[in-house]
Amino acid sequence: MLSAFSDTKKCGEIFWLDSIDSTNTYALKLLSEGTQAPFVVVAREQNAGKGRLSRKWYAEPDATLCMSVAVPMSDDPNLLRSFTVRVATEICSVLEKELLTRLFIKWPNDIYSEQGKKIAGMLTELKIEKNKKTIILGIGINCFKPKGDIDSSIAETMGVLEDVVKRDFLMCEIAKIVASAIVNTSKEISIENVASNFSKYDWLKGKEIQVDTGGAVVSGFASGIVDSGELLVNLETGETRPIAALEASILKK
Ligand code: BTN
Repeated sequence: MLSAFSDTKKCGEIFWLDSIDSTNTYALKLLSEGTQAPFVVVAREQNAGKGRLSRKWYAEPDATLCMSVAVPMSDDPNLLRSFTVRVATEICSVLEKELLTRLFIKWPNDIYSEQGKKIAGMLTELKIEKNKKTIILGIGINCFKPKGDIDSSIAETMGVLEDVVKRDFLMCEIAKIVASAIVNTSKEISIENVASNFSKYDWLKGKEIQVDTGGAVVSGFASGIVDSGELLVNLETGETRPIAALEASILKK
């Protein structure tokens, strides 16, 4: 795994771990100890992988790539708010080209196959120390079919990259492509065209959805995003509003 990154100076130091609780937690610890971003943490096995909204993230060793990339973050709130969707867009763009497949983003942090199965999930955490902001972008990518038993609720929604691509690949190759995409995104200095770049991959577009805004549940039809990353929802009143929510669920009728 290490050698795959040796030509990728821009990604910084690579910490390759056999087993860890969570690569995001480990990256936060490295930052606290003074390690300078950018750097990458990859683990063969996570025993307490973290998902969004305090969920657990289950991953089988050698089947799912578990990686966290720490990158310096600008003070611009729009660049910060839009970071996860910008990263997701860049990852879809490079993986589509490299692996000849079609991918989608289920706003804000999931990568889906054309069949609507979850190929990858992202967990973005922010560390602020002495006014310096660093983002830890954790990503779990289901590269290969797990060999062991998995919970039926996970199996139902889970997709694997090997099932939807047109050529063989190695997990370390995906790690390199994705780490580079994250570091490249962190160097962007404007949110211009975020919404239009995202629209090619928008899984929710036109679908009837429900979003939990923390205080209220809002229903309507998804109609893209705005450049700063919020979801645009066409409400029952006919008004289209950007919504800053944590998650959107598709309403099945
Ligand atoms: C989600 O879908 O809820 C996000 C899942 C994020 C999982 C990745 S695996 C690498 C990194 N380390 C973690 O503990 N979580 C992220």
